[in-house]
Amino acid sequence: MSILAALTTSRAFLIGIGVGIGVLVAFAAVAAGIRRPRRGPELDIPRAMQPGPADPDLERPVLERLIAWGAVFVVFMAIWIPVVWYNEPTTNLNDTKSEMALSVERGHQTTLPGTLANPLGFNCARCHGQTLGGGQNVFNGNIVAVPNLQTVCGGPAYGHAQIHGIQDIVATISEGRSGSDMPSWSVRFAGAMDDQQIQDLVNYILSIQKEPKDKNLCINPPKAG
Ligand code: HEC
Repeated sequence: MSILAALTTSRAFLIGIGVGIGVLVAFAAVAAGIRRPRRGPELDIPRAMQPGPADPDLERPVLERLIAWGAVFVVFMAIWIPVVWYNEPTTNLNDTKSEMALSVERGHQTTLPGTLANPLGFNCARCHGQTLGGGQNVFNGNIVAVPNLQTVCGGPAYGHAQIHGIQDIVATISEGRSGSDMPSWSVRFAGAMDDQQIQDLVNYILSIQKEPKDKNLCINPPKAG
């Protein structure tokens, strides 16, 4: 919550600076656009036949205007670039968080039945249970127990003998388990999902883990050796 508040403040700060700079640029543009009064000598001579302005009159205002615009843009960049740079880590963190939330949401929809309202659905829930909390299925005429995915990151200690880390979950979803009714889901094997869909599923499964954090082999992989 405090991070969210901080983000809003920094965003408001950025918008404030942006508006300020916009007003400055608008003022500078108006000031540069105000014409110097023309010194038109004899008004009864048709405009097209009056003597033209001297070279210095033509060149100096143009030069001054260019220099003024140059200064405006240099000041703009000198403020803008550090502000963007300073906010970049927060922006990236924010982006990653919202991408992750969207991925988890898509993963959730993938586990639900596919319907008109939920075209992403592949119905993992049919075997793994409503909230992926474990279920039953009929396989080769026998009723088989289907694992609870809310503890799958717990590994062997939580009844998932073949899971020792997140890579085993990715592999199981992608390849399926031969000799069981867990099908392959990835287009790399015999399924229909792309890597993003598998990633979304894994992110969702990570988000629903019930075992304590220190028993979670997905986020606390055992040290090598
Ligand atoms: C047709 C039934 C069925 C469907 C549909 C199904 N699974 Fe499975 N799944 C199983 C069975 C049965 C197992 C256990 C396999 C075994 O005996 O090793 C399993 C195992 C798993 C495992 C490994 C769990 C462990 O304890 O080793 C994961 C992860 C998994 N499924 C994810 C999914 C996801 C994600 C989906 C949806 C895209 C899905 N499953 C759809 C039947 C199913």
